[in-house]
Amino acid sequence: MIEQRWYKNTVIYSLAIESFLDSDGDGVGDFAGLMNRLDYLQGLGVGAIWLAPFHPSPRKDHGYDVVDYYGVDGRYGSHGDFVEFTHACRTRGIRVMMDLVLNHTSDEHPWFQAAIADPTSKYRDYYIWADKKPADADKGMVFPGVQESTWTYNRKARAWYYHKFFEFQPDLNIANPQVQAELLKIVAFWLELGVSGFRMDAVPFLIAADGIHVQGAEPAFHFLRRIRELAQWRKGDAVFLAEANIPPEDCLQYFGEAGDRLHMMFNFPVNQTLFYALASGDTGPLREKLEASRGLPETAQWAHFLRNHDELDIGRLPDDQRAKVFAKFGPDEDMQLYGRGIRRRLAPMLGGDRRRLELAYSLMLTMPGTPVIRYGDEIGMGDDLTLPERDAARTPMQWSNERNSGFTQGVPEKPVISEGPYGYRSVNVALQRADSDSLLNWTERMLRMRKELPEIGHGAYTILPAPAHILAMCYVFEGKVSVFVHNLLEERIDFRVEQLPQDCTERSLVCIQTDERIRPDKTGCYDLVLEPSGYRWFRLGGLEDMIAGDEPQADGGA
Ligand code: GLC
Repeated sequence: MIEQRWYKNTVIYSLAIESFLDSDGDGVGDFAGLMNRLDYLQGLGVGAIWLAPFHPSPRKDHGYDVVDYYGVDGRYGSHGDFVEFTHACRTRGIRVMMDLVLNHTSDEHPWFQAAIADPTSKYRDYYIWADKKPADADKGMVFPGVQESTWTYNRKARAWYYHKFFEFQPDLNIANPQVQAELLKIVAFWLELGVSGFRMDAVPFLIAADGIHVQGAEPAFHFLRRIRELAQWRKGDAVFLAEANIPPEDCLQYFGEAGDRLHMMFNFPVNQTLFYALASGDTGPLREKLEASRGLPETAQWAHFLRNHDELDIGRLPDDQRAKVFAKFGPDEDMQLYGRGIRRRLAPMLGGDRRRLELAYSLMLTMPGTPVIRYGDEIGMGDDLTLPERDAARTPMQWSNERNSGFTQGVPEKPVISEGPYGYRSVNVALQRADSDSLLNWTERMLRMRKELPEIGHGAYTILPAPAHILAMCYVFEGKVSVFVHNLLEERIDFRVEQLPQDCTERSLVCIQTDERIRPDKTGCYDLVLEPSGYRWFRLGGLEDMIAGDEPQADGGA
């Protein structure tokens, strides 16, 4: 018990201030609005909030183009509001995590402005330069089709600068010790203001050696260790959650074999294969990625998600699998992005089918790690494909059927979804709060149950024998044993749970949702019936659930 770490059994909720709630009628969400909804988030069961970038920024990439790392964009509030916010979270037991965009700045950042103005400035070497256009300038774009190159000529500087992302996001030169010192100072600053952790943006690019024309440059893994050391010296329970869409076998280097680098990583391979399982009914590739996700150091943790603020990136699936996911969830070209992803929200992708939504959520919540949910997905919000690129899934939160979904009294800067089945008059918090069967109330119950199952975040897992269309997993932690079974098919099927890893003889499986008890048969197996797209969560019963004297029997159960 003493070793339990907060990030291993919590629920993270990701939101952008601008889209959550506007308190002053300027059409943009703000900290004061968000504070008004902390009780809502606490009620939902959220343990940590991940804030998208809120710094001053031209916002050409939703704030991922930072102009002042120490600032708060005036439209969202002030430092005073930020500290009030972190305090209000603390009093409710909610942690605050913030985006940390260290790979690049905005081209309007004073460092870049100083760098282009004067080649002798110390800031010149904060960025990555070339005198001539590099031969690979039209390679390696992160946003293919929208972004044209990775090197752009700057007239004032009379040189080419490197940018892995858009041309207005020049990459910082992590090889420069002064840059490293600046980045550490930013982390230290926000820790003082009350944050418990950071979602670290674009980590593979941050530490990459490409662009840095140093002979034999190595990825800057040592920087990951330095940043962790600093954070934990300043605030013992601070964590870093890395965005790195890489194969699981490469992740160990990000955690550090000794667990001395980043604490958490989003599990992109599991995300992609989970969507493949939903599209095809085949859990094989998902199981492979789950097997490959083992062997983490003690303090390391996966974070699992369904949708995030970007496109659903399925670029790492083999072609045939990717084609199936596209065909099922994003068949129109307009739904796809960068040749590798889908820019829709979860609910429309699943056709608004409640059973499929529950199945998807249940799978995600029972993956080995910590769940991250996206604002609005708890009520099944939709998308607006008339908006460009990733904006489609970043529309304002739908609170009620009042004007502008209750998001603002003014004119919303970004349009609220008002038409169709996902319009705010049909999909909103107020309506769903009043309906005990709503997706919102279902999510709240599931999050409560999820947090009562620390074995998922802390324990060891086994994938139980099952046909390809069923995923059955068992977790064991400190004497607690739980079993999760998912039917990917849209038909009712019988399933036999066998080979539980512990000596579970004669103990019942107690269904966490229904409290139904399923007894083992003579051979120690449990027979279940799974509804179409059905899912069942079980704890192995305690001694009181042992069969006293009577014959062990299977009692099935729907
Ligand atoms: C990450 C973010 C994305 C952003 C990019 C550049 O991939 O998730 O939203 O555009 O980094 O900072």
